[in-house]
Amino acid sequence: MVSTRKLDHINISLKRDVQSKIKNGFEDITFVHRALPEIDRDEIDTSCEFFGKKIGAPIFIAAMTGGHEKAKKINENLALAAAELNIPMGVGSQRAAIEEEGLAPTYSIVREAAPDIFLIGNVGAVQFAENYGIEEARKAVEMIDANALAVHLNPLQEAIMPEGDVDFKGALDGLKKLKDLSVPVIAKETGAGIAMEEAKLLEAAGAKGIDVGGLGGTSFSAVEYYRRKGFDETFWDWGIPTAVSTIECLAGTSLNIMSTGGIRNGLEVAKAVSLGAVSCGIAHPLLAEALKGKDEVRNALIKIIDELKTAMFLTGARTVEELKGVDLVITGTTNDWLSNRGIDTKKFARR
Ligand SMILES: Cc1cc2nc3c(=O)[nH]c(=O)nc-3n(C[C@H](O)[C@H](O)[C@H](O)COP(=O)(O)O)c2cc1C
Repeated sequence: MVSTRKLDHINISLKRDVQSKIKNGFEDITFVHRALPEIDRDEIDTSCEFFGKKIGAPIFIAAMTGGHEKAKKINENLALAAAELNIPMGVGSQRAAIEEEGLAPTYSIVREAAPDIFLIGNVGAVQFAENYGIEEARKAVEMIDANALAVHLNPLQEAIMPEGDVDFKGALDGLKKLKDLSVPVIAKETGAGIAMEEAKLLEAAGAKGIDVGGLGGTSFSAVEYYRRKGFDETFWDWGIPTAVSTIECLAGTSLNIMSTGGIRNGLEVAKAVSLGAVSCGIAHPLLAEALKGKDEVRNALIKIIDELKTAMFLTGARTVEELKGVDLVITGTTNDWLSNRGIDTKKFARR
């Protein structure tokens, strides 16, 4: 059952180390320190726009859960914290409630808790490749009064789940079914990243944003490793690191790019935004906090926003817009990867 599996994911994520062993690539990206920032740290403004809505900072709570009672409390605490900071939030896959209406309150609690935030619904691309169409997408949007719908691409996860759905034929055409949806569609990965080629296809299919969901944070192969006896670690670190995927998607499209996957502090947020991402998603670190309470979630997010401010101060950026113009040097594996793929990294170094 979908909701039992989702509960397994939550429990395993809380009890085991399910992070990838490879880092997300931001460790290869360094800001050029400004010894004369010529700004007052107290005047730094982290607010910015996200799909036309003014938000408190370029971060959001990435999709995690829904579909069972434990998820309802988690979602409520995440939403309450998001509302206090005016940042967007995604819910986990809504398939469980699309197929069993009684589960809808475990998702719709987010809109009750946070009447004004930017909310992102969530359905799998593989479902649209099969029997889902615009009706199911509308149901997902209405369930939480969503401002956008994320369509998740998770072939790695499906490939290693014993009950996985591995027929991805028609997933792109499935996305095209959503062109008349009233809210923007965001294509998202779940930990293996999106390359430039797929980003272009997704843009052509009508997606308005891409959440790269890159390698370097939560690994669904790791989750499956613990869920499935006898499974090995071969694909634990499969994927495109988040920093690489972010630059590939920015180079290949003019879409709003969100950088998610192993984002653990405000310095990484600053780097992603400086590269050109509109926002960074954070999932796993907020899960345990959400079980404790909304204040714990809020405090974890405030710490990240504070670190973002420090990075802005040290690069002389008073606003998020100014952060996009500061200098970054890309080295190491990330630079090797991007150079091999024909993407210019030097342009970030002296802007
Ligand atoms: C417990 C858990 C459940 C998740 N469930 C979903 C989901 O239902 N739909 C989805 O699109 N992504 C899901 N994700 C993926 C996250 O949205 C995110 O892309 C990924 O965890 C990488 O971010 P992180 O390293 O900050 O955890 C889930 C992540 C976690 C940790």
